[in-house]
Amino acid sequence: MAALAALAAAGVLGAAGAAAFVWFGVYDVSATGPHLQPVHSLLELALKRAVQRRADAHPPPPDLVTAARVMQGAACFRDRCVACHGAPGVAPERFALGMQPVPTSLIEATRHWRRQDLYWITRNGIKMSGMPAWEYRLDERELWSVVAFLDALPLMTPDQYRALTAAPRCDGIVDAPAPLDPPLTTVELARRAFRQHGCTACHVIPGVVGPDTSNGPRLSGLAGRDRIGGKAFPTEDGIAAWIRDPQAIDAHSAMPALGISETQARLMARYLLAH
Ligand code: HEC
Ligand code: HEC
Repeated sequence: MAALAALAAAGVLGAAGAAAFVWFGVYDVSATGPHLQPVHSLLELALKRAVQRRADAHPPPPDLVTAARVMQGAACFRDRCVACHGAPGVAPERFALGMQPVPTSLIEATRHWRRQDLYWITRNGIKMSGMPAWEYRLDERELWSVVAFLDALPLMTPDQYRALTAAPRCDGIVDAPAPLDPPLTTVELARRAFRQHGCTACHVIPGVVGPDTSNGPRLSGLAGRDRIGGKAFPTEDGIAAWIRDPQAIDAHSAMPALGISETQARLMARYLLAH
């Protein structure tokens, strides 16, 4: 009995301590104040285990590293990654140097990660680190090409990097990412699409986790409106057209076109009509 009471008291004290830590703002959230070394090492271990556990669902294609893949991967790396991670002979952009954690140079990434890990990280990003998910901005082919490029990176000279990245641009809009295993329902896919296309930066959307913002109107009850955005009809066609290019419908709209595919826009429109 006494031991149980002591345990319960310790639990209550611990919870009170944690609550006080949060409430009194003790934790230094600045990007200039690093984590303590043990915290940093623990986070790195947690990252490694979490990625390894999930990555095996995506085995690399056979003969991954071909000249064509490395070439395409180089173009995508130049357009999507070099700004933060740098490359042989190329510094990251200034903003990236001020990030915490600082994006590491990926020259040795293949020493720490298997190919499927690199695919998983690139596709899904890393929460709370600044590493974006590229699932909607690099298609399946391009994702593996980036991995092929990372594989070739350790032996690449700055001159070779420059020659490779003279390749044409990386495509851009992904119509629909390759299915996941286990597959997501259409409602889950729509929620993911809202989060991954920046909608939650400006709108509160029922059922979608995001900041409490009023930059744009709350997106609920659209089906019952006369018009949306003041002009478009609240049908799947009307909402999808608005989502893809609001300024084509209202030239003065503050909502930007966010580079969204037809499939993704319709997925979001159907969700909005039902919520
Ligand atoms: C906005 C900045 C930013 C961009 C752009 C970016 N990353 Fe990252 N990336 C990060 C940060 C921050 C981390 C976490 C710190 C770290 O481990 O490097 C990270 C981590 C990683 C890691 C794990 C590195 C390791 O060893 O822990 C890989 C692999 C990676 N990024 C690949 C990519 C690829 C491929 C691209 C382009 C498709 C890309 N990143 C674009 C910021 C970025
Ligand atoms: C930078 C902020 C911003 C982002 C990001 C943004 N919107 Fe908007 N959105 C607005 C504003 C502001 C309006 C109000 C109309 C206007 O001022 O043009 C609006 C209007 C709308 C409307 C019509 C709502 C109504 O009540 O009439 C829909 C639907 C919509 N947005 C969906 C989306 C979706 C889906 C995304 C993500 C793909 C998105 N928005 C991203 C700012 C934004």
